[in-house]
Amino acid sequence: MQKRGQFITLEGLDGAGKGTHLGWLLDWLTAAGISYIHTREPGGTPLGEQLRELLLHVPMDLETEAMLMFAARRQHIVEVIQPALQAGKWVISDRFTDATYAYQGGGRGLGLDRIARLESFVQGEGAEQLQPDLTILLDVPPAISAARLAQAREPDKFERESADFFQRVRDVYLSRAAQVPQRYAVVDSTRELSVIRTELAQVLSDFCKRAG
Ligand code: TYD
Repeated sequence: MQKRGQFITLEGLDGAGKGTHLGWLLDWLTAAGISYIHTREPGGTPLGEQLRELLLHVPMDLETEAMLMFAARRQHIVEVIQPALQAGKWVISDRFTDATYAYQGGGRGLGLDRIARLESFVQGEGAEQLQPDLTILLDVPPAISAARLAQAREPDKFERESADFFQRVRDVYLSRAAQVPQRYAVVDSTRELSVIRTELAQVLSDFCKRAG
């Protein structure tokens, strides 16, 4: 039987450096001879990309926002993530459910229990629940992410949020990482690029050893 692929997710505040490190990370996997697909949330499917447009630009009720995130995710799992993992490919996703806990649950204040209910509905329950095998959290304080965003292109709906919002987002990310440390690699993304990359290489090579 084909060995299932590994599922890696990349998380962090807007401006934490996901975009900066993702290409490098993919090159590392290619050099290691790993066959992977690269995808993102919200998005990753034609339907998901349409939902992304709405989610990033149209004001909406916060429950609606959370449910649309999970609707896009459901389609992504069924159409892209599961088939790739079953075919033995690794899946590298720029964001996944941790982002909904952090942004909708924490940032928007929806609460983590309600996100957990949607997660069970969409990803299954107990040992059957689809979860990433590794989540790399690029961690920066909100002041740094805000300074980086200020230099970036036209901000979307989330990028215009307050420092308090991003503080709540960060708090949820860090507390989730502390609860399940074996799944997360928290990388201090305030440091120099080369230092961060040395650490990312270590994280990836340790993970590859564990994944066999
Ligand atoms: P992001 O991944 O940062 O893309 P880009 O680098 O193109 O800006 O943007 C996606 C935004 O969506 C980001 O602000 C976080 C938000 N988001 C949520 O609020 N909840 C979610 O579940 C997901 C996946 C993303």
